[in-house]
Amino acid sequence: MAVNLRGRNFLKLLDYTPEEIRYLLDLSREFKRLKLTGTPHDRLRGKNIVLLFEKTSTRTRCAFEVAGFDLGLGVTYLDPKSSQMGKKESVADTARVLGRMYDGIEYRGFSQDTVQALADYAGVPVWNGLTDQFHPTQMLADLLTVEEKFGRLKGINFTYMGDARNNMGNSLMVACAKMGLNFTACAPKELFPAQELIDTCRTIAADTGATIRLTEDVAEGTKGADVLYTDVWVSMGEPDEVWEKRIALLKDYQVNAAAMKNAKPTAIFMHCLPSFHDRKTVTGEEIYEKFGLTEMEVTDEVFESAQSVVFDEAENRMHTIKAVIYATLC
Ligand code: CP
Ligand code: NVA
Repeated sequence: MAVNLRGRNFLKLLDYTPEEIRYLLDLSREFKRLKLTGTPHDRLRGKNIVLLFEKTSTRTRCAFEVAGFDLGLGVTYLDPKSSQMGKKESVADTARVLGRMYDGIEYRGFSQDTVQALADYAGVPVWNGLTDQFHPTQMLADLLTVEEKFGRLKGINFTYMGDARNNMGNSLMVACAKMGLNFTACAPKELFPAQELIDTCRTIAADTGATIRLTEDVAEGTKGADVLYTDVWVSMGEPDEVWEKRIALLKDYQVNAAAMKNAKPTAIFMHCLPSFHDRKTVTGEEIYEKFGLTEMEVTDEVFESAQSVVFDEAENRMHTIKAVIYATLC
């Protein structure tokens, strides 16, 4: 059956079928080709979108803006402090106002309930640009990158190391389940995803041929991997006080040369970014002064190695977000 995503929200990958995800990946490839060949594709001229950010961003904001401009859209950016939402106006009221002016709304913030509420009231497509629970636009970029590197998704051994119960760990487990990859969460038990989400993903996996594995053992988790993926140990919105405990929990789950060596020789390293792989950031320097660490979730050696595809991944944010905007607004 032909896929038609017009008018749909994009709140989490759980809401999409493998066929719909496949459609978005193929459309992303097509938009990437148009961009790289300099072929104009301003097919949504006359429409407007608004980007609501309650947390900071480089990639997601820029990807939405450039994708919007390339498609011929008008784009409004509202930074974390410059709208009335939440403080002086409810999410439901804001959604109904924005829905009268714009053709689509992107939201980055804390709670999945907020992006859901926006979608419930806006009357136009709402796109999740990251919540504490899910980061679905990142998933499309990651799947596209894996497919570009290996020529397939099914059967790829995909290991995520680190905080597996946050937006990235949750989302990658869902993405792998939907598209038939072998997902491993390699993390301390207390940072495993919620059991309910694991169960949901295992049910999906039974249909797609994916597998879902959780292990605390780094040697076991990295052995034979095609992809080693990690994310920051402390996410946006978490208090500074958690650093000490998180470092203690995750220091053995760093992606380093030993982990890469235990993976396949053809393995790639992935990271949604931003990343603490050196001391060249304010936070990186603070952590060095407090805890003596010069690098955190990934060593600089791995980050800068030929196996690292993190900037291809970052570029793919734009092509995939363009596909989501186009497919839901066209
Ligand atoms: N990966 C990602 O979402 O990056 P930003 O926080 O810069 O948007
Ligand atoms: N887990 C990270 C992802 C950033 C893209 C965070 O939420 O800060």
